[in-house]
Formats: sequence, C-alpha cells, structure tokens
Amino acid sequence: MTNRQKLNRRDFIKRSAAGTTAASLALNNTYITNAQSSAANSRVNVGFIGVGARAQQIIEDCKNVPELEVVAMCDAYKGRLERAMERTGGRAKIYANHKELLAAKDVDAVFVVTPDHLHKAHVLDAVNAGKDVYCEKPLTYTIADGLEMIAAANKTGRIVQVGSQGVSSAAQQKAREIIASGKLGQITMVRATNHRNSAGGAWIYPIPPDASADTVNWDMFQGHLKKRPLDLARFFRWRCYEEYSGGIATDLYVHLVTTIHYIMNAQAPEVVMAMGQLYRWKDSRDVPDTLNALVQYPEGFVVNLSATFNNEAVNERGFQIMGTEGTLEIGGKGLTFTPARGGDDNGWIVDSWPSKLQKAYYNDPKIIASERPNRQPQKMIQGSEQWTEIGYGDAVPHIQNFVNAIKTRQQPYENALVGHRAAAVAHMVNMSAKHQKPIIWDRGRDNVKAD
Ligand SMILES: NC(=O)c1ccc[n+]([C@@H]2O[C@H](COP(=O)([O-])OP(=O)(O)OC[C@H]3O[C@@H](n4cnc5c(N)ncnc54)[C@H](O)[C@@H]3O)[C@@H](O)[C@H]2O)c1
Repeated sequence: MTNRQKLNRRDFIKRSAAGTTAASLALNNTYITNAQSSAANSRVNVGFIGVGARAQQIIEDCKNVPELEVVAMCDAYKGRLERAMERTGGRAKIYANHKELLAAKDVDAVFVVTPDHLHKAHVLDAVNAGKDVYCEKPLTYTIADGLEMIAAANKTGRIVQVGSQGVSSAAQQKAREIIASGKLGQITMVRATNHRNSAGGAWIYPIPPDASADTVNWDMFQGHLKKRPLDLARFFRWRCYEEYSGGIATDLYVHLVTTIHYIMNAQAPEVVMAMGQLYRWKDSRDVPDTLNALVQYPEGFVVNLSATFNNEAVNERGFQIMGTEGTLEIGGKGLTFTPARGGDDNGWIVDSWPSKLQKAYYNDPKIIASERPNRQPQKMIQGSEQWTEIGYGDAVPHIQNFVNAIKTRQQPYENALVGHRAAAVAHMVNMSAKHQKPIIWDRGRDNVKAD
C-alpha cells in the first residue's frame, strides 16, 4: 500500500478541511460568490414540480420547517394534485406544468420530485428561472446530465441541494465524527446493503383505479423521450424501466454511496466493478433485480454494495465500516461501535512444526523477539458502544439545511457536485454490470475515463 492510499486521521482531517478536489473548489467558489437571495431573512415560498409519493412525504416534512410555505405545485396525474392540495389546506396554487410554475414571481425555490429522466430538464429550467432547487436523488439520469447541472448552478448562482436526506441526520453526522476521530483505526472496507423482499419493495406499486388518459398526462411524463402509447405501468412503476431510471443502483445505491462519501469524507471512486441480473421479477421490468458492486476509492478503501428483492440476513441492512481498531455499524437503530478482537493465535500453526521448534517458539527469547511484530497479546472485547437515540428517519433536517443555504447563500453539503458524484457511481455500477467490465473514473474531468 502506498502512502497515498493509507487513510489515517491526519489525512482525513486535511481532506475535511479541503473538502474537495481542486476542480470542485473552482466550481464551488463560483457558486458562493455569484449568489444573491431574494429570500434572505424572510419566508421561503416553495413550489413542487411533481407531487407523487415522495413529494407528499416532503410536504408533510415541510410543515416542521417553520420558514417554508408551499405555494405552488404541478403534476402529471390529477389524483396526486388533489391529495397534495388536501395536505396544504388548499392554500397552494396548481399550475398546468413546470414552466408556468417557474414563471410565478412568488415562488422562491422548488422541490423537483419527478421521475429521474426529467430531473435535468426540471433543474435546468428552475435555476435559469432564478429559483433555488432541492432535487430528489438521484440528481441525474446520466453522468453527462450532472456536468450540465453543475455548470448551470454555477452560472446562475442558485443553490442546488440533492435529496439523500440521510446526510443531514444526527446518526450520519455522528458516524462522520467518529470516523474522523480515528477511533476505527485504518478503514479498508465499507459494506452496505439494501434487500427488500416484496412486490412493493421491487417497485410494483398499486396503480390508482381512476388512472386513465383523462387523469394522467402521459406526454408530460414522457418529456423529451420518444413517444410511446399510454402505459400506466410505466407511468406509476417507472423505476422498473431503464428509459426512466437506473433501477437498484440509482434508487437504492445512490443513498448508500452519498452516505459513504459523507462519513468517509471521500470524493469519488477510482474504479467500479459490478454484476447485475434479472432473475425474479422478469415480467415486470428491464432492469436487474439482483446487483452486486465493488467500488474502490483512492483514499484507500473499497466499498462492497449489494441489493436484491429477496430476504436479507438478520441485522444486515445498513452499513458496516471495518477498521483495524473496530467496526462501526449504522442501521435503523442508530450506531454501534464494536472494538477489535486483535491478536494472533498461532498455536495451530506451530503445532505442525518439529516439537523442538515449537517449544522454542514459546520459550526462546531470541525467537520471541524476532516474532514480536506478529505476536501481539490477544485483545479483549471491552463491550460495544451504542448511540441508539439517533435514527435517520424524516427529511426535516435536510430541508432545514436547504432553507439555511437559501438564506445564507452558503452551499449545503449535498450540492450539485456531491449529488453528481454519488449518482455517477450508480451509473458506473450499471455500466459495469451491463458491459461486464470495470469502469474507471477520471477525477480531473469529473466523468468516466474515455475508452
Ligand atoms: N429521498 C428519498 O428517500 C426518496 C424516496 C422516494 C423517492 N425519491 C425520489 O423522488 C423522485 C420521485 O419519486 P416518487 O416515488 O415520488 O415517484 P412518483 O411516480 O410517485 O412521483 C413522481 C410524480 O411526478 C409526476 N410527474 C411526471 N412527469 C411530470 C412532469 N413533467 N411535471 C410534473 N410532474 C410530473 C408524476 O405524475 C408523479 O406524481 C424520484 O427521483 C425518486 O428517486 C426519493
């Protein structure tokens, strides 16, 4: 291992302070200096582009962020608008489409909560209309989308925050702090999983019984894509089709990767290798339902990601961060640190040596001394530590960070660049699985290496 690859505490803190590579610093500075907010020190009026299942949760979360008022919304299915109007007490205005919503003067910022293939158009139109944006994860549908979105955010000076809300949770902030303290020693592997053994978990969502050409605006959903005849499965279960989504990688892994980048203070990988297959839900989709990936980081560790729509092992869901001094686990119940069980027991090896040498191994001071680096005393587990009070459920802290960014014009952690890199890992996973080859990242270009 080279020095560059060793992840020690000093490097970690240095990276924390720098926060970004040279290329990204240039991007970030432009952000901050250009920015001016009409919403500073005042109420923030927000509009929703898309009020589907996720947006309805966010609308509820917005009720716990006192400065926010939901004043506008648009969607491609009437039923969702009806429900979102109920949730806002009928106070918001409905617009025919996102362009009309963006033209409204009383809208300071927007939430983009549409299917992934529409994120680029909606984010670009929003920042060009002078609105700050909270865009749901994954920020992008392709890696090239991300570069365009970063450039547009820089040019317009708008805040763009991406919606992997976990990074604003107390649990993940604590994990980042614990890792930065060096408590885990040298970390060489992080594992993260997400298995969901149900049709709903595999995105086969119920289709509302009133859905039809009268209630669904199919053209609006298709956006720039080649036109197809109305297909309600595609409209309501769009994650199953690669025309709209990157499946497991962009729906599930992107959260895991965003967290790993955050807690490990990593920027982007070096290389990604993945395998994906469609084994179980063959009739309902064209994206894999079983996916494994290895993501190697130049900071000196590798990430092992896995997801299926089958059953998971007990306590498997979440993250395991494996260091020389112990393991940190992040799960639904908070954080657990288990100290290392170090030391060697070579008894079974020397038991195969000639008896004379075996005896000397234990008794001869010269042999003991020469073996010393490998013969540390067995460490005892001193009991694990837990931080259970800090889960990472709702998006309220993340939305609050967005509002703070709007007011202070300071970039939030999960800005367009960070969102681009996390989504890029997901796209690299899909590229690797599809083409059965490693995909290499070019840090200088913030893009995959050209073939
Ligand atoms: N952060 C999280 O934990 C989380 C959870 C779920 C979903 N998401 C993300 O949120 C986004 C939306 O997912 P969802 O589950 O709400 O999907 P959904 O299908 O329930 O909602 C998408 C909505 O967008 C509407 N829409 C389609 N085209 C539109 C257009 N041109 N203009 C306006 N509205 C349009 C649809 O009618 C639908 O109501 C996705 O990017 C998804 O990855 C994030």
